Amino acid sequence: MTIERVFVAGAGLMGHGIAQVHAAIGKTVVLYEPDLERAEAGRERIAGNLDRSVAKGRVTPDERDATLARVAATSDVALVADADLVVEAVFEDLGVKQELWRSLDQLAAPEAIFASNTSSIAIRRLAEATASARRERFLGMHFFSPVPVMPLVELIRGQETSDETVEAARALSGELGKQVIVSADRPGFIVNRILIPFLAEAMRALQQGIGTAEDIDAGARVGLNHPMGPLELADFIGLDVVLGIMRVLEDGLSQEHMHPPRNLQDLVKAGHLGQKTGQGFYTYPREGR
Ligand code: CAA
Repeated sequence: MTIERVFVAGAGLMGHGIAQVHAAIGKTVVLYEPDLERAEAGRERIAGNLDRSVAKGRVTPDERDATLARVAATSDVALVADADLVVEAVFEDLGVKQELWRSLDQLAAPEAIFASNTSSIAIRRLAEATASARRERFLGMHFFSPVPVMPLVELIRGQETSDETVEAARALSGELGKQVIVSADRPGFIVNRILIPFLAEAMRALQQGIGTAEDIDAGARVGLNHPMGPLELADFIGLDVVLGIMRVLEDGLSQEHMHPPRNLQDLVKAGHLGQKTGQGFYTYPREGR
């Protein structure tokens, strides 16, 4: 099946990026939030990203205008009725996501594909919120931040996801210029299964006074050629998000080393969630960067 009309639920960090990359390749995109101001703010972020790309000469002003014209911000969930693909990128909470999927399922066309951008919640649990006829068309489609830049999509097969659904998502990811990996529906899928323990060990190293935050990050950046150190990457992802995924790994894999470090728990408790609140392992904006 060809996907031309995409409904993106959630206009935050991931949702606006997902909307942008689809619009950039000619898809018609509806960007939905229950609060219209939040939907419009997501569209504004897309405009800002496109303006920066125009300034760098990577996108022409006409391309920017055409991409933006393909994105409609809305608070009307009923617009999902026209979608070939529904991508959900809302807060990582099982109850919140299930409630949303339940209502989307009632309004969407029977043939529409449902994709969750969840970073850790079991696809099987989300698909359960939809009617049984939908579940073969339900999968995980996990993008990476910043979505316009990171060239990977992790597809997650739920218990009932059909081969046709995986192939349609694979074809679309190819159109988006993204490389595809396919994961089983297990805690953390592939990328977070390998990333999150790495971040946790960096936090524990900081907590145990093995090195400063700057030195731990330089160890990974300079010694391992990572674009960001693990602590600044955690701040970038959002410490609440990182803690949430760590809890899923801790519960699902029940290994002692998956237990979230105390310093991460304390920061999240204090509302210091990383870049988005201006404070995490570092203070933002960072001096000299
Ligand atoms: N939105 C859109 N584009 C962005 C951006 C953003 N937030 N941040 C940077 N970019 C773009 C820039 O515009 C620039 O584009 P051009 O090449 O067209 O000029 C390009 O990215 C490089 O940016 P900069 O030169 O400003 O900065 P940089 O070279 O330091 O790269 C980075 C920034 C791409 C974020 C890089 O540091 C990096 O790759 N970091 C690691 C990111 C990562 O690991 N992401 C995955 C996180 S895990 C996740 O998302 C999933 C999960 O479930 C937790």
